[in-house]
Amino acid sequence: MLARDWYYTQRRRLGLDSAVASIYDRHDSSDVRTRAVLSMLGVQRGWRVADIGCGNGVLAVEAALMGADVDAIDISPAMLALAGIQASDRKVAVRTQPAGLLSFAYQPNSYDLIVSEFALHHLPDFWKAVALARIHAALKPGANFYLRDIVFVSMPDGVDRDVEGWAEFCIKNHDFDRDSVVSHMRDEYSTFGWVIERMLTDVGFTLVSADYHAPLHGTYLLRKPEPGEQS
Ligand SMILES: C[S@@+](CC[C@H](N)C(=O)[O-])C[C@H]1O[C@@H](n2cnc3c(N)ncnc32)[C@H](O)[C@@H]1O
Repeated sequence: MLARDWYYTQRRRLGLDSAVASIYDRHDSSDVRTRAVLSMLGVQRGWRVADIGCGNGVLAVEAALMGADVDAIDISPAMLALAGIQASDRKVAVRTQPAGLLSFAYQPNSYDLIVSEFALHHLPDFWKAVALARIHAALKPGANFYLRDIVFVSMPDGVDRDVEGWAEFCIKNHDFDRDSVVSHMRDEYSTFGWVIERMLTDVGFTLVSADYHAPLHGTYLLRKPEPGEQS
């Protein structure tokens, strides 16, 4: 997509240097969980799969081990370097692309599956919709998009209590430090689950399922309808 002078600068923030990469180089998205997700999504040998915002490459590498032809895409060269190391350690090939949700290169109707986990919240809402429309265009008709992100599940009924409760949960259960929770709330763009659902259906996806997990995770399975099929 042609960048214009008003185009959102995806590289303005996180994950670009190795200091931040070390924060994202987490191993809590275990390969066991990832393998189960990819099996549930029906990944087959020869499928074209993209993981956008791939981070350290756990999912991309697992998909490649299942025989898929994988594009590991991330705005951060530091994260892609980790994904490359992971791929060579596991003796599998993935194609890395240093690009973002708004700039990854694709042939229309070419992917059998696109996955994006915990990256979409880096974009403000207007740009989330632009990114989702690009993902829709890149998928083959009938193919799936699997999205996970940090989303707000309900209206806050006490902002301080709700956010502090979330901070405590993340620090206790996900080994986050306080700074990463603070910067997520202050500087990033998580939005409401219902906003995400509306964007997904407005760009043309069929919403197969939306699952919300306490206190702030949304998992969405989407399908790009075949021509003539209702979305
Ligand atoms: C929280 S990490 C998630 C990594 C991985 N998907 C996972 O679940 O472990 C967020 C990732 O999104 C990447 N990222 C941030 N903004 C992005 C953008 N606009 N397009 C693509 N990736 C982006 C960061 O570099 C980082 O690797």
